[in-house]
Amino acid sequence: MKDTINTIEKLKKEKDAIILAHLYQNPEIQEIADFVGDSFELSKKAKESKAQTIVFCGVHFMAESAKILSPEKTVLLPREDAGCPMADMVTEKEVQQLRKKYPNAAVVCYVNSSAKVKALSDICCTSSNALKVVKSLPNKQIIFIPDENLGHYIKKQVTDKEVIPFDGYCITHHLVTKEEVIKIKKDLKGLKFLAHPECREEILEEADYIGSTSQIIQYVKESKDKEFIIGTEQGILHKLTQNNPEKTFYLASSKLICMNMKKTKIEDVLNALENNTHQIELEENVKEKAYDSLNKMLEI
Ligand code: 13P
Ligand code: SF4
Repeated sequence: MKDTINTIEKLKKEKDAIILAHLYQNPEIQEIADFVGDSFELSKKAKESKAQTIVFCGVHFMAESAKILSPEKTVLLPREDAGCPMADMVTEKEVQQLRKKYPNAAVVCYVNSSAKVKALSDICCTSSNALKVVKSLPNKQIIFIPDENLGHYIKKQVTDKEVIPFDGYCITHHLVTKEEVIKIKKDLKGLKFLAHPECREEILEEADYIGSTSQIIQYVKESKDKEFIIGTEQGILHKLTQNNPEKTFYLASSKLICMNMKKTKIEDVLNALENNTHQIELEENVKEKAYDSLNKMLEI
């Protein structure tokens, strides 16, 4: 393992590369990354970085967003098969049909989506800025794709607009049941329950705080509490315990593991750097239109 890490460091210098990792990645990947963050922070880093190569340890749509924002850079996804099922739940055709049905609506697209769908949208958002993005638009009707849970969460908070959520969902957060949340809250009485907005509505109703992965990390940092129940993917526990060794965290459900996020191993990162795999390539016109949607979000 030590040899592999040394070789990765050497190749990074030779190739002018940085490693970006999502907070759901395996601890050993978070440890070798130059930057670990949520979807929004990673998009920003990808755009601002001066490095020539970005090794993106996350899932496909994240590496794709990095390529859209930095088309001149080489973007590598170490595991080609690390996808996000939610990103495939809305197609271009469905977006076109929704546009026809609601001609005055703006299409707000969660970053967990394909580049082609982003290209057809007015603006992107992440779980950390969805409310801000929706509020910033002049349109009275908002089509929110693809995550219905984030869409409903936003709908509840924006009463002066009609928010129309699509019916996609995260297969990982969707598995958490109300019964297990109620049970853990009862077993660990008094502990705050912090949840990601990709959880279902009935789970979010039980939450004391709802936020993106980085927002949950920030909440814990500022809280005087010593113990928390966590309602998002298990990978976040690494940063939480690292930043707060004196605090204790309980995962709301043992099912909160995203198999796609867990695919990337150290050997895959080494392979990516050694063989320039798997490079993200996009069609020119898709890249340009998707850039507009992503960039608008970054400028808000
Ligand atoms: P954030 O990083 O925005 O919290 O999103 C979580 C997620 O599901 C990424 O796939
Ligand atoms: Fe997709 Fe859910 Fe995994 Fe995020 S946690 S990558 S939304 S399946």
